[in-house]
Amino acid sequence: QAIPVITIDGPGGSGKGTIAGLLASRLGWNLLDSGALYRLLAFAAQNHGVSLTNEEALEALAAHLDVQFVAGDDAREQHIILEGEEVTRAIRTEAAGAGASQVAALPAVRAALLQRQRAFREAPGLVADGRDMGTVVFADAQLKVYLTASAEERAGRRHRQLLEKGEAANLASLLDEIVARDDRDMNRSVAPLRPAEDAILIDSTQMDIEEVLEMVHKEAQKRD
Ligand code: C5P
Repeated sequence: QAIPVITIDGPGGSGKGTIAGLLASRLGWNLLDSGALYRLLAFAAQNHGVSLTNEEALEALAAHLDVQFVAGDDAREQHIILEGEEVTRAIRTEAAGAGASQVAALPAVRAALLQRQRAFREAPGLVADGRDMGTVVFADAQLKVYLTASAEERAGRRHRQLLEKGEAANLASLLDEIVARDDRDMNRSVAPLRPAEDAILIDSTQMDIEEVLEMVHKEAQKRD
């Protein structure tokens, strides 16, 4: 019997990371934040002076990426350690997201990260969030969710998050960055962002986290 997987794909800021974290802790399952791997790779590349367009060097870096995910007290946050250094917050900036989306468009990089992602599939189950979890990495998942929200709503959420953390934020430029990243993720030739044919679509524009979590959890129970 295959180990069950629930995939949650969607654009940046749709809330998929939050929902995946909460769902994994509710079910007692493992969690894969696949976007973090692309963010980490872009981050490591910068540390090592590797250009974000050097596919061969990035492929090698991806194959040997020294990273650990350590569960935190709060189910929503795992501590992420890159080459011995905690980078949990450093990789969350919109600049790191843009770098991630640049390296994520390279086929050799995606191939190099494939096995690493599949290795997260351990008993009793896995909740995986990203862009191609349901379409490529775990195409046999029991439940596939495609979570979206309007770009304006997503920019607004990011904006509020940043202000809450006491960081500077500009709503108009956040919206521009989100639209640019959506465009790159949806229009690349390998594993573009799109719903799997058998995914359920949830638009969270008018929903809060609890409502989305309940909806996904109900769908998961139906497939038990
Ligand atoms: O989800 P997150 O915003 O952390 O992802 C950062 C970037 O990594 C995305 O914009 C996308 O380009 C890339 N990514 C991907 N495939 C995934 C997860 C993330 O291409 N499964």
